[in-house]
Amino acid sequence: MANEIVKDTSVLLTEKRMFEPGNEVIEKANVKNWKAEREKGKDLEAYWGEKAENFHWFEKWNKVLDESEKPFYKWFTGGKTNITYNAVDRWINTAKRNQVAILYVNERGDEKKITYYELYKEVNKLANGLKRLGVKKGDRVGIYLPMSPELPVSLLACAKIGAMHSAVFAGFSEGALAERLNDAEAKILITADGTYRKGSVINLKNIADEAFLQCPIIETMIVVKHCGNEVNMSDLSGKDIWYDNLIEGEPSECEPEKMDAEDPLYILYTSGSTGKPKGVLHTTGGYMVGTATTLKTVFDIHDGDLWWCSADIGWVTGHSYIVYAPLVLGTTTVVYEGAPDYPDPGTWWKIIEKYGVTQFYTAPTAIRHLMRFGDKFPNRYDLSTLRLLGTVGEPINPEAWMWYYKNVGKEKLPIMDTWWQTETGTFMISPIPVSPLKPGSATKPLPGIEAEVVDKEGNRVPVGKGGHLIIKTPWPAMLRTLYKNPDRYVETYWNVIPGGVYTAGDIAREDEDGYFWIQGRSDDVLQIAGHRIGTSEVESAFVSHDAVAEAAVIGKPDPVRYETIKAFLILKEGKKLTPDLMTELKKQVRHELGALAVIGEMVQVDILPKTRSGKIMRRVLRAREKGEDEGDISTLVE
Ligand code: WTA
Repeated sequence: MANEIVKDTSVLLTEKRMFEPGNEVIEKANVKNWKAEREKGKDLEAYWGEKAENFHWFEKWNKVLDESEKPFYKWFTGGKTNITYNAVDRWINTAKRNQVAILYVNERGDEKKITYYELYKEVNKLANGLKRLGVKKGDRVGIYLPMSPELPVSLLACAKIGAMHSAVFAGFSEGALAERLNDAEAKILITADGTYRKGSVINLKNIADEAFLQCPIIETMIVVKHCGNEVNMSDLSGKDIWYDNLIEGEPSECEPEKMDAEDPLYILYTSGSTGKPKGVLHTTGGYMVGTATTLKTVFDIHDGDLWWCSADIGWVTGHSYIVYAPLVLGTTTVVYEGAPDYPDPGTWWKIIEKYGVTQFYTAPTAIRHLMRFGDKFPNRYDLSTLRLLGTVGEPINPEAWMWYYKNVGKEKLPIMDTWWQTETGTFMISPIPVSPLKPGSATKPLPGIEAEVVDKEGNRVPVGKGGHLIIKTPWPAMLRTLYKNPDRYVETYWNVIPGGVYTAGDIAREDEDGYFWIQGRSDDVLQIAGHRIGTSEVESAFVSHDAVAEAAVIGKPDPVRYETIKAFLILKEGKKLTPDLMTELKKQVRHELGALAVIGEMVQVDILPKTRSGKIMRRVLRAREKGEDEGDISTLVE
C-alpha cells in the first residue's frame, strides 16, 4: 500500500447538505454534547477508566493503559472479569431475568424468544458440555454455524470457560473454512445441519465434513439440529455428536472463568492485501468496555429497547454488536436468519413493525439492494417505533443515504454511519445521535479516538485532500496481535506510516468542518456486498484450476454490491476463455472461497503488469480500468 498514489476521485466532495437532529432525539440521548464528550475523551485513561466502572470485575485493574511494550498495548491490566458473566449472569438476579435477551426470527417467519434466564441455563449447559469434551482455558473452538440461537450461545459458552472461539462465516466454503480452522488449531468444531436462505436449506454439515477432511487437528464435531434436514452423522469414525445429546443432562450452573483483562477472547479471520487471512486476536476486558460503551453512546441504548443489527455473527459486526455489546448492556438483540428480500423485499420492514424494533443497523449494500424494489415496501409498514438508524461496511453513497433517511427514517431519524474494522473491534469514526449529519460522511472520531488523514510520511494532508487514514492513540477494543504472527501485526498496522500510528488501510479525506469521508481501501482488499475479501485469496482460487497459469484480480465497481471481482487471467498454452471454462472457473472460486466471492467479469490476457521482483501491479490494472493515468510506474519497481 505504501506505493499507492492517492487521488481525489470521489463525487462526495460536492456533498454539502447537513441534517440536524430533532428535539426528541436530543432529549433522549445518552450523550447530549458531542463536543464536550470528545473533549473528555482526550484523557484516555480517565475517560476509559470511568467507562469501565459500568461493568462487573472480579478484581479491579491496576492500570487503565499500559504502553510499555507498544504497539502491544494492554488495557485494564491486573483486572479480572468474564464477559459472559457481564452479558448474561449478572442480569439473572435483576428485573431483566425474564426479559427477552435474544429474539430469533427467520425469513420463514419462525421465531424464538430466549430470556436472560433461559440464555443463562443454555450457555452453562454448553459450557459444561465443552468442558466434558476436554476444552480448557486458552483452547480454540471453531464455530461454523448459521444465524441460529446456538451461534450466540456458543460464543458465550466459550467465553464463559475461557476458551477462544474462532467463528467462520457460514457463507464461506470448505476450503476457506479449513484454512482458518487449521491456522487456529481448533480441536472442536460446532456446526449445524443447515441454514435457511431464500426459501431453501443449505446443508452446512456437508461443507463442514469436507473441511474436516483437511483438518487433522479437529477431534469432535458438535452438530446443531437446526433445519431438520438429513445429514450424515456416521461416516466420520464417531467424531460427530448432536448438540442436544451433548448438553442433555449437563448442569445449568457453571462457574465463570476469572479471566485476566488481557486474556484472549477470540480469533476472527480477516483478509489482508497479501498472503493468508489474518487471525485478528481480541482480548477480554478492553473489548468488553469498548464494545458496550460505543453501542450505548452511538445507538443510545435504553432499557426496553429492541436492537437489531442485521449483520451475520460470523463477522466482527455480529460478534461486537449482535452478541457482546447488546447483552452486556442488558438489551434485547434480534438474530435474523435469511435473506433481506425473501419471501419479498418487505421482510425486514415487516419484522420492524411486528416486534417494534427501536434501532436498526445494516449495510449500504443491503440498502441499495432494497432500494431497487422501490419505496412501496418500506412504506407499507409502520416503522414508527424506530428511533435511530445505522450503517456499516463500506462508504454509503448519498443517494442510498437519502433513500434510507426518507423511506425508513421518515426524514426524522439520524443515521449513524459507523466506520470501523475487524481489527478495531468497535466503532471508531461515527456520529452520535446529537451530531449534525452529512450524507456519506462517518462524521468525526468518537470520544477517546484520535484519527487523522496523512500522507506516506505521516504529515497531515490539507483539508479536502485524500490520504491514509490513521489512528494516533490506542483504544480499549483494539486487536492485540495477529494470532501466532506478532511480526505481521507490527508490519501490517504499525510500521506502515512513521510515528507509531495505526494504519487502517483506508483512504479518507477530512473536510473543512473536520468531518471524515472514507473513500475505500488503499490496499488489495475487496469489499463485496459488505464482505471483505483479499485479492490474493481470489487469485489463488483461480490458479487452483488446471487451465489457469496466472491471475490478477481487482474490484469492479458495482451499483449494489459496491464491488465485484474483475479477473485478468493468463491461461495455459492453447486454452481459451470459453463460456464453459468461465462457468467452471466460477464454480472453482465458489468451491475454494464461497458464494460471497462474486465474479463480475473475466478477461483473458497475455501478460500482467509486474514489478521487477515479480509482484503484480494491481494498481496499474485499476488505473487502466478507470481510464486514469497509470502513475509513475518507475517508482513502483522495488
Ligand atoms: C470499510 C467491518 C466506509 C473500510 C466493521 C474498512 C467502511 C473495512 C465503513 C473493514 C464505513 C467499514 N464507511 N467504509 N462506515 N465501515 N468500512 O473488517 O474499508 O469487515 O477498512 O469490518 O470496511 O471491514 P471489516
